[in-house]
Amino acid sequence: MLPVVVVHGGAGSIPKERVALSTAGVQEAARKGYAVLTSGFSAMDAVVEAVAVLENNPVYNAGRGSVLNVKGEVQMDALVMDGRTLSCGAVSAVRRVANPVRLARLVMDKTNHVCLTAEGASQFARAMGIPEVTEESLITDYARKRWRDNLDPGANPVESQMGKMGTVGAVAVDMQGNLACATSTGGMINMMEGRVGDTSCVGCGGYADNNIGAVSTTGHGESIMKVALSRLILFHMEQGKSPEEASDLALAYLWERVSGMAGVVVVDPKGTWAARFNSKQMSWAAAQQDQLHYGLYKGEDFTEPV
Ligand code: GLY
Repeated sequence: MLPVVVVHGGAGSIPKERVALSTAGVQEAARKGYAVLTSGFSAMDAVVEAVAVLENNPVYNAGRGSVLNVKGEVQMDALVMDGRTLSCGAVSAVRRVANPVRLARLVMDKTNHVCLTAEGASQFARAMGIPEVTEESLITDYARKRWRDNLDPGANPVESQMGKMGTVGAVAVDMQGNLACATSTGGMINMMEGRVGDTSCVGCGGYADNNIGAVSTTGHGESIMKVALSRLILFHMEQGKSPEEASDLALAYLWERVSGMAGVVVVDPKGTWAARFNSKQMSWAAAQQDQLHYGLYKGEDFTEPV
């Protein structure tokens, strides 16, 4: 099986001055995920490593660079899912960890649960020997400025929220034909303390099933949860649609039914992939057959050697 990894750095409207950084970051993450796959590691290893690269990059709304809640604090959500067994792990409203995606994987690997939240997730991180980081180390000047500037979300909530997205995620198929997904986010700017979005919810922020495909989503979490976007895409694929057709059907439904904006990356078990969105932009990159594909606006698919 030829391995493939597809990553996204968030759907929305990316400020001009951040476009180059956002595009470069997803390429770096796709290269990392592809190196993991071509070294013989699993799809799960690849999506976790790719997402960790994006969490460490302050350009994105995940890990370092996360948006701030209404109290000016960082609280993050993350999810991983293994398509072999449907095993999954998630954390929600977790604070003071650098890589929530690694903690989500530990929830999957080391507990009998699917999701740990808030202080319970932090306690589990400590028990697993994950170092606590300072709040300050996760907060960028940009995030603090956006928080101050957006204390009033404005007249058009979806647009104002989408302008600040930057959730990150990845899907992959490995050389053994196994699928996995991972998604990580700082949530919505100025969200209520304790708000949990789509990212950590199985079937919303992501889903992976070796029999059908794998999905990672980005966008307006409350809308994505209402239609269970990841599982909806896989439902259409079960009915015979390609990843691209299934994504477009589900994104159209999201808009028609709940005026939701989102973006998705999808793979099927044959390695056919798609990166689709109904927002203005989504930074994405894919690596397959030693070719790197990437884009930002609809219709773009630039390629170069990995
Ligand atoms: N999609 C990320 C969030 O709404 O939290």
